[in-house]
Amino acid sequence: MQSLQHVNQQFALTDKLQFSQNAHGLIIAEITSAQASARISLSGAHLLSWQPADLDTPAIWLSEQANLIPGKSIRGGIPVCWPWFGPHPQDGTLPAHGFARTSQWQVTHSGIANDVITLGFELQSSDSNYPCSARLEYKIGPQLELTLTTHNHGSQALTISEAMHTYFHISDIADIQLQGLNNVAYWDKVSNHPATMTQQQAVQFSAETDRVYINSPQACTIHDPGLKRDIQINKTGSLSTVVWSPWYEKAERMGDLGANNGWRQMVCVESANAFDNTLILAPDQTHTLNVNYQVKKLDDF
Ligand code: BG6
Repeated sequence: MQSLQHVNQQFALTDKLQFSQNAHGLIIAEITSAQASARISLSGAHLLSWQPADLDTPAIWLSEQANLIPGKSIRGGIPVCWPWFGPHPQDGTLPAHGFARTSQWQVTHSGIANDVITLGFELQSSDSNYPCSARLEYKIGPQLELTLTTHNHGSQALTISEAMHTYFHISDIADIQLQGLNNVAYWDKVSNHPATMTQQQAVQFSAETDRVYINSPQACTIHDPGLKRDIQINKTGSLSTVVWSPWYEKAERMGDLGANNGWRQMVCVESANAFDNTLILAPDQTHTLNVNYQVKKLDDF
């Protein structure tokens, strides 16, 4: 595991990128530029916050009850689900959403250009069933960009699923709309329906919602009149879009979404390859998933 001293010596960028360590030993990259601020945990290569400088409120939601402890999954931010999404396809005893989100990643590089900060991570799988590696590069500025590249190092075809499980900060789940998925078929994970449901119009929320929209490479927009902003999600290399709100009862059961109805201020819109869009990588093949988030103030239009 890289030490705090090592990452600061190798990758700090004067006052724009410094690494700190909390009381639990979690090392966090702290990014502050004229354009944006962000924090990324080395455990999980997990983004905890991102706020463009011209916004009053964060773009990304993090639970006030999030466990900022190495090796624990973190509620909120951007968990990286890899090399499987949801329950493991064969072995239900393995952790949901794969091991990447609770693994210690290595920092590989950092840089700055036009006040946009780049920070790169790598994870080599030590699971013999997954002879592969992941590289994840963040670009942090007025837009947030993540590029996740999977490489199959094995001699057999490798099946993986994945998601950037992003928790967006919103005004209120009942008041937003998710646009861009009109006419797209989805699996409804709440009712266990097969993918025969088809989205009509924008997605609106009035109950627990847990859906995997398949064959959905298109951009989406979270329209949030309460915060007077749209969050635009553009992606490549992702054919699925997961949309999740736990709503009241599941939030109660989960117990880590924060007091004061914390679940109302979040929605997950996940750029993924899952279900029908699960990937099969040939030996030595790579696959790259790229997502870009941009917040547009509605006053700008
Ligand atoms: C979503 C899934 O991606 O993640 C949900 O579609 C799941 O079914 C949610 O409940 C949270 O998962 P976890 O493992 O972080 O509690």
